[in-house]
Amino acid sequence: MAVADLHTKINLQYSSRLSYVSNRLSYSRRFSLRPLPQPHNSRICCSVTSKEVQAPVTVNTEDPKKKPDCYGVFCLTYDLMAEEETKSWKKMINIAVSGAAGMISNHLLFKLASGEVFGPEQPIALKLLGSERSFQALEGVAMELEDSLFPLLREVSIGIDAYEVFQDADWALLIGAKPRGPGMERADLLDINGQIFAEQGKALNAVASRNVKVMVVGNPCNTNALICLKNAPDIPAKNFHALTRLDENRAKCQLALKAGVFYDQVSNVTIWGNHSTTQVPDFLNAKINGIPVKEVIKDTKWLEEEFTEKVQKRGGVLIKKWGRSSAASTAVSIVDAIRSLVTPTPHGDWFSSAVYTAGNPYGIAEDIVFSMPCRSKGDGDYELVKDVIFDDYLRSRIKKTEAELLAEKRCVAHLTGEGIAVCDLPGDTMLPGEM
Ligand code: LMR
Repeated sequence: MAVADLHTKINLQYSSRLSYVSNRLSYSRRFSLRPLPQPHNSRICCSVTSKEVQAPVTVNTEDPKKKPDCYGVFCLTYDLMAEEETKSWKKMINIAVSGAAGMISNHLLFKLASGEVFGPEQPIALKLLGSERSFQALEGVAMELEDSLFPLLREVSIGIDAYEVFQDADWALLIGAKPRGPGMERADLLDINGQIFAEQGKALNAVASRNVKVMVVGNPCNTNALICLKNAPDIPAKNFHALTRLDENRAKCQLALKAGVFYDQVSNVTIWGNHSTTQVPDFLNAKINGIPVKEVIKDTKWLEEEFTEKVQKRGGVLIKKWGRSSAASTAVSIVDAIRSLVTPTPHGDWFSSAVYTAGNPYGIAEDIVFSMPCRSKGDGDYELVKDVIFDDYLRSRIKKTEAELLAEKRCVAHLTGEGIAVCDLPGDTMLPGEM
């Protein structure tokens, strides 16, 4: 929808969100002069009462694009507890997604809305953050969400201001970032994207839930996550993740292929370090059918060289084939990463996530975001796995990816509040997609 159309919608809105009241799951009201769209499906129940219609109306004179606006059918009011099928539902959660008009989100949002991530009893509100440039596309995304009639999707709002969109977010999936352009130095990329994540960290700190879980996907994701958490001092640093689950999935696939087993037989795979070409896919602790990988795949040269490099550079090979970055598999891995936090980790297994290193038991430098093995009870939190082993090969590889992250950190000191940036990045510092 064009900006002019948006203005003609004249959103004379009274909007109130009362916290969980008695038996109501969530309650939100919005009023508009334009006719309200009709529900498309009986599963969605509109319960705008005459009492509500008499509520005070305020004129919103702000640019509607600055405010996250409920979209279409999602502007209707629902009494979730009025329907038999919703009586067992949990309290609605707010999921903010940046880069919401992009390819990764286009896969992810529909998975979130379907219930496959948070489960069939978890209603959700999607708060979509785009940019001025992508606003029309964002509306297109919202339209497709409308047309999908997801029962669990109770609210969708779109906006371009992180301070508005991140309001009360329980989850923030930070996908939007600038790709490295031609001739752009890595330091420039760190700076440009770092500024986005510094701003989003501040916004989360100001308006998100105090226990918001943050998943940074936009590259360079580890350092972006570090910048984000440094700018959000009121949110536990432990709540910030950078996505390395895609790398874990890639590693599992390659090990399965080599061993001639289906990939569900591969477990205990850790990705250590940075989501970059220095990442370390750990074959020392990994298992196939419960047996250490090195006992199943005896070709150590293959493990150390071909396997490791394949995982490190998979993103780049994919870009060559597709002409763009991985999107569907990234979205799937975001789903996996979230599910690993909201469901208990299978006994004896673990998952990889790049998290804050403070107090880590492996001797990895403190105060960076580093992919490590985690376990969760399914409460959104995690603990680092202690029973892992190291050998000289693994230690030396971990040192290299650690050095890279420490250099990235020095390069963004101006964005983390740690003084003047000094950019002495190692020459081989590259994203998986850069070859
Ligand atoms: C990936 O791993 O597929 C992406 O992070 C690649 C990239 O560099 O964008």
